[in-house]
Amino acid sequence: MTRRRIQFVRLREVAGHENSFSLISLSPDHMGFGLGRHACPGRFFAANEVNIALCHVLFQYEFKLAEGATPQATRSGIRMQTDISAKVMVRRRQENIVAKL
Ligand code: HEM
Repeated sequence: MTRRRIQFVRLREVAGHENSFSLISLSPDHMGFGLGRHACPGRFFAANEVNIALCHVLFQYEFKLAEGATPQATRSGIRMQTDISAKVMVRRRQENIVAKL
């Protein structure tokens, strides 16, 4: 398996990279927040917000690929594009978390 194909979550298994590849890490391999002196100072806030939003969505909805869907990601240069024609089924979860205020 080439390094490029390994998922981010597994990259930390590589010796010497146990503390690398966090969403907010800066490196030439991950330029989403820029690099060096002018790298994005809002990346810590942004990462927390994205995690909170994702948790909110996952707590309230269930997702699965539609019957027979076989999405194919496409590559364009360094970009990887999800299959925007893929059909996904979404339904609201039963409320099973009671907020204690
Ligand atoms: C997912 C969300 C975000 C992405 C992908 C992003 C990405 C970037 C990138 C690529 C740069 C340029 C870095 C460079 O020139 O090397 C940048 C700069 C900057 N970002 Fe963000 N950013 C995000 C959220 C935020 C937030 C939430 C804030 C503030 C609350 C923020 C504040 C800034 C500032 C002030 C700079 C300029 C830093 C400088 O020039 O020294 N960003 N950001």
